[in-house]
Amino acid sequence: MYIIGFMGSPRTSGKCSKLLQGVLDGAASKGAQTKRYDLVDCNIMHCKGCGACYKFRPELAIGKCPLKDDMAAILVDYLSADGYVFATPVYDGYVTSVMKKFLERKIALTYKPKEDIGKICTPRATADFKKRATHIVTGDAFDEYREVMGDPCFEALEAHLYMEQVMSVDKMYMGNAEHIAPDDFAVRLQEALRMGVRLVEEIEKA
Ligand SMILES: Cc1cc2nc3c(=O)[nH]c(=O)nc-3n(C[C@H](O)[C@H](O)[C@H](O)COP(=O)(O)O)c2cc1C
Repeated sequence: MYIIGFMGSPRTSGKCSKLLQGVLDGAASKGAQTKRYDLVDCNIMHCKGCGACYKFRPELAIGKCPLKDDMAAILVDYLSADGYVFATPVYDGYVTSVMKKFLERKIALTYKPKEDIGKICTPRATADFKKRATHIVTGDAFDEYREVMGDPCFEALEAHLYMEQVMSVDKMYMGNAEHIAPDDFAVRLQEALRMGVRLVEEIEKA
């Protein structure tokens, strides 16, 4: 089993990063092979909105994007995985621009024929509800603000996954990220490890 983590914080050794690693470690403890992309360190350009990737060549699993960067290789890797971990801090009530840029470019995994005006894109290579994802959002606002700070981020992370037929397992919102006490953070890290174990178990069941 192969699980990939996508980390959307510009701070590659911050809380978000550590929690993501916790989930991956949990998955590895159940025998999964894991890999992580610290998206801030990847060469991912802004989508230019040309539509070339989703308008043409329905026979391809990944639409051809004219931008020459790391994204084509990341998407090949993405399709080869059985499960995903998405982790992002809340910035301005939403996912970071680092994560958003990546999510937008995933549109190359979809296809929309020109007669489908007003319809949503369809997945090119459907996961057929066999793949699973789990999500982490960190914010400075306390846990009780999960609905305001966490939920818009979870929705952003899941939007494409619905189209790809990838189902979510867990969604952790960890508030007080800047000032959380070490003991409290250790508890959240344990929770992250369990999320990794559950992710593998849910994929096995599927
Ligand atoms: C530009 C910016 C905007 C932020 N906006 C929010 C916000 O809307 N809500 C919130 O709870 N925290 C906000 N924060 C705090 C971050 O979410 C917090 O620093 C982050 O989750 C810590 O994760 P890290 O250790 O991976 O950087 C913001 C931080 C920055 C730098």
